[in-house]
Amino acid sequence: MIIRSLKVTNFRNYDNFNITLGSKMNIFIGNNASGKTNILESIAILGLTKSFRNGLDADVIKFGRKKAVIEGRVLNNKQIKDLKIEFLEKDKNIFVNNKKVKKYASYISNLNIIIFTPNDLDIIKGSPSIRRNLLNMALSQISYSYLVTYNEYNKILKTRNEYLKILFTNGIADKAYLDVLTDKLVEKAVLIYWERFKYLSLINSYISDIYNNITEDKRLLKIEYSPNISISSYEEEELRKVLINTYKKNYRRELSAGMTLFGPHRDDFSFIMDNNIDMKIYASEGQQKCAVLAYKLASIPIFKENNGTNPVLLLDDIFSELDLTKRNKLLKYVSRDIQSIITTTDLKNISKKTLDSAVIFKVNEGKVERS
Ligand SMILES: Nc1ncnc2c1ncn2[C@@H]1O[C@H](COP(=O)(O)OP(=O)(O)OP(=O)(O)O)[C@@H](O)[C@H]1O
Ligand SMILES: [Mg+2]
Repeated sequence: MIIRSLKVTNFRNYDNFNITLGSKMNIFIGNNASGKTNILESIAILGLTKSFRNGLDADVIKFGRKKAVIEGRVLNNKQIKDLKIEFLEKDKNIFVNNKKVKKYASYISNLNIIIFTPNDLDIIKGSPSIRRNLLNMALSQISYSYLVTYNEYNKILKTRNEYLKILFTNGIADKAYLDVLTDKLVEKAVLIYWERFKYLSLINSYISDIYNNITEDKRLLKIEYSPNISISSYEEEELRKVLINTYKKNYRRELSAGMTLFGPHRDDFSFIMDNNIDMKIYASEGQQKCAVLAYKLASIPIFKENNGTNPVLLLDDIFSELDLTKRNKLLKYVSRDIQSIITTTDLKNISKKTLDSAVIFKVNEGKVERS
């Protein structure tokens, strides 16, 4: 999958630009606050329909303007698609080949992206919800049924939580309805657990090699999936049995809490080094950055296997905190057969060979120019 061209209008600090991207490595250089992350953000939005930045959709509209537009031409399996997303103050419109899209879930497959931003350093040490979001972002792009199931799970979860509160305050309410909701929730949860387990197992088959490749650090790295139910296997029947028992056993607890305490909405996973070192507690800044990068890069072959095409790789401010050897090793790793879009404030010490094969753009106070 390749983004051929990108055009934005009234987006963040840009009036407009229209650029043609290279099919391999693209590097955007510019000072702080020149608009580099904004460019990656526009591409991420084009892929996922929403920003990785916190805030409202309308925040992307340039100050004082009424409408922001992001347009991209994507080449995938010899097919060209024109994608467009418009942001209005209270509305958002999505188009594929000028036809308006109603279901966002079906849109996501048009542009697959893997993104690394400096905020991702929180992935190892931050709260579990950050790691769950990460799983959802990847799985939504490789499995349509995951995305649909996940949305349905959240709807049932909300209803179940509301009903637990009703049961708690109103003694004569009907518990049978809670059982119906629990059964529905279990059906969705089983699929979510299975997909997450499968995905993280695949990540584990790549992550250590990639980590060693970019760091020269011969250590084992693995991801440990830790759902908050105790399971011996992720087989459908086993999962169903354990979940039903867990809800049965914890009925009183959930009732007094007024919410569902068990299930994939409470999932977590951790980064483990050399089989027993939890990186949450022990990792250095540089180790965290490399481990998260390895995790993200490990998802590339999984995307390829599932979707038959490579995703587009977005790397924001990639060189800070990496020493010279790692910078060049990372670039060498990335420069293979995938389109990448990289931002940096400088190209100090980057090997000439890598730079020769890249397309370089200069970003300067809301202007982008190919150099
Ligand atoms: N809606 C908006 N309208 C106008 N300007 C905005 C809007 N949102 C953000 N900006 C501005 O865009 C500018 C560029 O932001 P961006 O995050 O892309 O910078 P950057 O080049 O990535 O900088 P750094 O190297 O520090 O990460 C900032 O000055 C920011 O205040
Ligand atoms: Mg930035």
